[in-house]
Amino acid sequence: ALPASVRIVEVGPRDGLQNEPDPITTATKLELVERLAKAGHRHIEAASFVSPKWVPQMADHREVMTALMREGKGQPGVRYSALTPNLKGLEAAIECGVDEVAVFGAASESFSQKNINCSIAESLERFAPVVERARDQGIQVRGYVSCVLGCPYEGEIAPEQVAAVARALDEMGCYEVSLGDTIGTGTPINARRMLEAVARDVPVERLAAHFHDTYGQALANLAAVLEDGIQVIDSSVAGLGGCPYAKGASGNVATEDVVYLLEGLGIETTVDLERIAAVGDWITRAIGRPNRSKAGVAVVAK
Ligand code: HMG
Ligand code: MG
Repeated sequence: ALPASVRIVEVGPRDGLQNEPDPITTATKLELVERLAKAGHRHIEAASFVSPKWVPQMADHREVMTALMREGKGQPGVRYSALTPNLKGLEAAIECGVDEVAVFGAASESFSQKNINCSIAESLERFAPVVERARDQGIQVRGYVSCVLGCPYEGEIAPEQVAAVARALDEMGCYEVSLGDTIGTGTPINARRMLEAVARDVPVERLAAHFHDTYGQALANLAAVLEDGIQVIDSSVAGLGGCPYAKGASGNVATEDVVYLLEGLGIETTVDLERIAAVGDWITRAIGRPNRSKAGVAVVAK
């Protein structure tokens, strides 16, 4: 049975922008976040407290989060979250007043090494004190697992391996685990098989789908996992984005396309289609990128 409503997590300002080679000003990022909230988003991943040597585009994480959490640029009722891969990132995020962070692991050893410079086991050891310290501060922690439907270095990934990492994050205290098809190679049957395996260890109510659209399968995969109880979907306005450590990977599924799909299925969200389409039109012009949302382009053209 399909859910009555879906919570959308907008990852455009982080996942959507992190791989952009030319610097985007902090003001543009904040304007994007503001427009996303005005389009109805209630959960926006806005920054990433990672090394600026690894991901230069996210180097202004302090400025972005301070503006949102301390300087009145955030809207009431909206959750603004940030990635924090280690204690150094978490401490900086705490100084900025964040109330939600995310740790990010992978179901593939090679990807873990390339992305965060350590093994899966080491990453889990590193995340445990991050989750503990965050929760002591009343900060909610989300967990990500990358490469759930394939790895750019290792190819196929066993669903059991995804389940093991998801379960470790869940047991550590993450309130939700987001399952990342980092390179968008999944197809609906594989997606359902993977979810079935994970849901044996982590209740589906605590899982989210984070599907990139590299092979054009993300909407089909989402329609499939919605049938299996997924109620939280990560997406990026205009389909912006890509992961710096997954060559050729394109953006997340576009928020506009997800909203259009959900409306068609009679599933409620807080996001307004016309407004989010306008945001996609604006940001793609502002940063000189093609709009990868079919629904967004169609709505704006109407
Ligand atoms: P490392 O080199 O192993 O860490 O990096 P280290 O502790 O040895 O530190 C090395 C240097 O980094 C030091 O600076 C630290 O201060 C600095 P130096 O002394 O050389 O000048 N450093 C930091 N600076 C700022 N903030 C920090 C921080 N930590 C260390 N938090 C680290 C480990 C994880 C930091 C590094 O590998 C890194 O930053 N990786 C970037 C990973 C990343 O951002 N990937 C993209 C996001 S994940 C994603 O897109 C997937 C997802 O969307 C889901 C999906 O689609 O599958 C979530
Ligand atoms: Mg991603």
